Amino acid sequence: MALRGNEVEVEGIKEPPPPPPLILTPTGIEGLDGIIGGGFIKGRTYLVAGETGTGKTIFSLNYLVYGASIGEPGVYLLVDEDYEDFIGGALSFGWDLEALIKKNLLSILTLLPDFAEKMKDKPIETIVKSLVFNLKNEAMRIGAKRLVIDPVAPLIMGERDPTWTRSYIRNLVISIEKEIGTTNIITSEIPTGSNALSRFGVEEFLAAGVIVLGIERIKGEFIRTLFIRKMRWRPVKPAMYLFKIETGRGIVVDGKIKV
Ligand SMILES: Nc1ncnc2c1ncn2[C@@H]1O[C@H](COP(=O)(O)OP(=O)(O)OP(=O)(O)O)[C@@H](O)[C@H]1O
Ligand SMILES: [Mg+2]
Repeated sequence: MALRGNEVEVEGIKEPPPPPPLILTPTGIEGLDGIIGGGFIKGRTYLVAGETGTGKTIFSLNYLVYGASIGEPGVYLLVDEDYEDFIGGALSFGWDLEALIKKNLLSILTLLPDFAEKMKDKPIETIVKSLVFNLKNEAMRIGAKRLVIDPVAPLIMGERDPTWTRSYIRNLVISIEKEIGTTNIITSEIPTGSNALSRFGVEEFLAAGVIVLGIERIKGEFIRTLFIRKMRWRPVKPAMYLFKIETGRGIVVDGKIKV
C-alpha cells in the first residue's frame, strides 16, 4: 500500500475493543451508594476493616439483608460468633434472618467444630478448596449474588505466622472471585490503636475497595466514622463520613466530616 505524508501502517495492531460497562451492585446501606458512585462492582471483593465494635458485622449483614429485599440472595460465613447468639442478636436488631433463610434469600454457614483440627496440617490450597467448595455449593443452591466472610482471618485455625495467613487470604479471595462470581465483602479487624488498614496487611491489596469504620472522640463525644479509603475504578475521592447504627435500619451514613 502506498503511504502518503506521515501515514504509518502498523501491521497486526488493532484498536482495543471498548471496555464493557461496569455492572454495579448497590450496597443498600443508607447514604453510602451515593458517595461510592452507585455501589460495588459486580463480582469483586470489598474489605470492611475496623477495630472491634466499629460495626463491621452490622455493615456486612446490612448488605445481605438489603440484597434479600431486592431478590438478591446472599451467603454469610459466620466465623467468630455462635450461630444462635448471632440469629438472636440480629432479631433484637430488627432483622429476622430465619425468615430470610426459609425463603432461600440468605444462607448462614458456620465451620464445623472439627474443621480446625482436620485442617491443621493441610496445605493452604486444600483448606481454601474445602471452604470454596462449600461456599460455592451453598451459593449455587440459593442462587446467591452476594457473599460475606466475617472475619476473613482464620482465627479458628490456631496460631499461624503472618506469611501463612497472608497467603491463605490471598488464595481464598482469588478463588472466590474466580469460582463463585458473587459480589463479596470480607471483614478484617484492625488491632486497637494501630494505623494499619487491615490485620494482616494483605486484605487491602486484594480488595477492589476498602472502607474503614472507626470510633473517634471529638470534644468529649464519641462519633462513628466511615472512611472510603479506596474504590477502584469509581469516581470517589478519599473522604471521611459520620454514621449511626440504628435498630432496624442498620448503618446510616450521615455526612462528610470536614477536616
Ligand atoms: N440496636 C443498636 N443501636 C445502636 N447501636 C448498636 C445497636 N446494636 C449494636 N450497636 C452497636 O454496634 C456495635 C457492634 O457492631 P458490630 O458487631 O457490627 O461490630 P464489629 O466491628 O463487627 O465488632 P467485632 O470486631 O467485635 O466483631 C456495638 O458495640 C454497639 O455499639
Ligand atoms: Mg463482628
